Amino acid sequence: MIRSIIRGYGAALPKRVMTNQDIEAIVETTDEWIVQRTGIKQRYIAGEGETTSSLGELAARAALENAGIQPDEIDLIIVATSTPDNTFPATAVNIQNRLGITSGFAFDVQAVCSGFVYAMATADLYIRGGMARRVLVIGAETFSRILDWTDRTTCVLFGDGAGAVVLEAGEGEGKTSDRGILTSNLRSDGSHKDKLYVDGGPSTTGTVGHLRMEGREVFKHAVGMITDVIEAAFEATGTTADDLDWLVPHQANRRIIDGSAKKLGIPNEKVVITVDQHGNTSAASIPLALAAAASDGRIKKGDLVMLEAMGGGFTWGAVLLRW
Ligand SMILES: CC(C)(COP(=O)(O)OP(=O)(O)OC[C@H]1O[C@@H](n2cnc3c(N)ncnc32)[C@H](O)[C@@H]1OP(=O)(O)O)[C@@H](O)C(=O)NCCC(=O)NCCS
Repeated sequence: MIRSIIRGYGAALPKRVMTNQDIEAIVETTDEWIVQRTGIKQRYIAGEGETTSSLGELAARAALENAGIQPDEIDLIIVATSTPDNTFPATAVNIQNRLGITSGFAFDVQAVCSGFVYAMATADLYIRGGMARRVLVIGAETFSRILDWTDRTTCVLFGDGAGAVVLEAGEGEGKTSDRGILTSNLRSDGSHKDKLYVDGGPSTTGTVGHLRMEGREVFKHAVGMITDVIEAAFEATGTTADDLDWLVPHQANRRIIDGSAKKLGIPNEKVVITVDQHGNTSAASIPLALAAAASDGRIKKGDLVMLEAMGGGFTWGAVLLRW
């Protein structure tokens, strides 16, 4: 059977670092409060000329180089983002153009913080369906541009960045020892849409709007939703938490990550954490964390890796893969 195997990975961050101390000068908050409630110590903020597509392009180029393939060998680009350069065209075609690719096809996926998990599941279906052999899956965001920088309950939490992987069709035997994506589980429940949203848009206000969140409500649902899809992934593959080499969670909040891992019986040493350095970069957080843990040698060929995310909508999901 066909499996979608990660052949390369890459990451890109804006030049400017904003520490918690820098934020203390903007809103009434403290480094201590932010670290204690979220684990975040700093985040990267896009400057002039840095956009979702420019960061996405850099991450994509790094992933292509890591995979050892040329841009024109890609036949599908999927970009997970909630902060596109423009309402349309898709940021994916913008990045396609930046990479000099004029073949194949490209589109965006919008599932907020779950975007990368949704995009990986989508790419896997295109590969297994035979419509694409090599897919660039990119998570890229500039959330700093939709933050209300006077609202301390949200502006301290998010950051900008991009990460990418090259997925390639390979042969598998239909076993969990196969390399590649083994299962994907996606969920959404729009009855929670007002708990984490942007208060503007083309069809309502005609403006871009700002991010609004009922933080406590999001927190309340997060651990249960995350552990639910992870358990579904274990069940679908007959694997358990003991088989897992790495949990690579969406990096929203250290307390949510720790709570989920604890509930599943996954020890801290197996959890990749970047939220302290990057903040919550929404759809970019998982590929940024993957790139960090693969480039420093933690994630190795053959490792069993669980990706999970939960975000606005609510949307949530998990992808289990063998590296
Ligand atoms: C946002 C979050 C960190 C807030 O932590 P919390 O413990 O729930 O805090 P609360 O919202 O109950 O606020 C507690 C107090 O801190 C204050 N506060 C809020 N933001 C603050 C900040 N940046 N600095 C200092 N104090 C702050 C509140 O005003 C409140 O004060 P009060 O008790 O005088 O009213 C937490 O709810 C959370 O992590 N939620 C999930 C958010 C998330 O991950 N979203 C993305 C999902 S993809």
